Amino acid sequence: MVNIRKVTKDITWIGASDRRLALFENAFPIPRGVSYNSYLINDEKTALMDTTDASVSEQFLENLKAALDGKSLDYLVINHMEPDHCATVGEVLLRYPEVNVVGNAKTFQMLDQFFDADLPEERRTVVKEGDKLSLGTHVLTFIMAPMVHWPEAMFTYDLKEYALFSADAFGTFGALNGNIFVDEVEFEKEWLPDARRYYTNIVGKFGSNVQAVFKKAAGIDIALILPLHGPIWRNHISWILDKYQKWSSYEAEEKGVALFVASMYGHTASVVDSLAGALAEKGIRNIAVYDVSATDVSVMIAEIFRFNTIVLASVSYNAGIHPKMEALLADMKALNVQNKKVALLENGTWAPSAQRCMRAAVESMKNMEIIEPGFTIKSSFNENQREEFDALVRQIAEAVR
Ligand code: FEO
Repeated sequence: MVNIRKVTKDITWIGASDRRLALFENAFPIPRGVSYNSYLINDEKTALMDTTDASVSEQFLENLKAALDGKSLDYLVINHMEPDHCATVGEVLLRYPEVNVVGNAKTFQMLDQFFDADLPEERRTVVKEGDKLSLGTHVLTFIMAPMVHWPEAMFTYDLKEYALFSADAFGTFGALNGNIFVDEVEFEKEWLPDARRYYTNIVGKFGSNVQAVFKKAAGIDIALILPLHGPIWRNHISWILDKYQKWSSYEAEEKGVALFVASMYGHTASVVDSLAGALAEKGIRNIAVYDVSATDVSVMIAEIFRFNTIVLASVSYNAGIHPKMEALLADMKALNVQNKKVALLENGTWAPSAQRCMRAAVESMKNMEIIEPGFTIKSSFNENQREEFDALVRQIAEAVR
């Protein structure tokens, strides 16, 4: 059944949601599904803004046909060539053999790699920064957004509607549940954890690239943000821009502490729980405790971006760290985590090694401040360590504040 929604008189959302996919990019759990957005601009000329993932291609093609309502498709603008958005390009080219494809030089390089499209030169419009394309009353201009999140990514800005087609930027995990629009109150309540998890894990590594695009786009008026995943922004746009500013500059959103524990028989976890309790008694309210073996790494990465202080607690394992803690540290490094205050806690029954390894990993990241001197337990907490423990609690509370 056709499922299209008017965004404005001329812009129609023609995307679809997938609630069956378990792992986005075969890596990230998405229990709430994900939407693949696509838009049609209907002017003297028509322009399709990106396509969708293959999983929803049937719905998308039905929507496209309905939105065109008998008109021809003149342009297909490709803002991003990752297959969650471009998988249906080949089918669009077959069904609309006159369509002219608009992208930058890298877009076409990837198009030819992904598809045996045999698209003649006269049906390729290669654009660069600031070029303009008139559809009649709508004029589109292009803002290159390399590495947000692939090198060919670009934003398209509609000068008539002040509408920013932002590719992956401002997207979120989560299927759309009827309403395609969102405001900041609803977003904070319903979407923020998934949006943070999406940004930090998918684009988090490329904060400097996001900042560079922000600088270029700083002067433009934005009335609408139309991302490729999740709801559309048309109110309180400064609120989501502020979140992106923080995330992309690796600035913590909140004063608080997330404690991550790799425990085998519960002794390390017991100390971490006591630590969380002692911090609560010190008046710290933003506290989250995660068992690294029971929590998806993408959730923990999002929490690390969120808070200014983290505690890493691990048993020693094979003269190193517990493998789940090692995986978390590897992901932190890969995603460019920086600007955190970090407390280290280790357990070692005969030859503690976890602190040394965690320290080396944290020190390889940028602007990380380790709360010294670190804390070691041997098998289990010993009451002789109470004073040292209380000092650690005070130091972490100070770091959070
Ligand atoms: Fe939603 Fe980078 O693709």
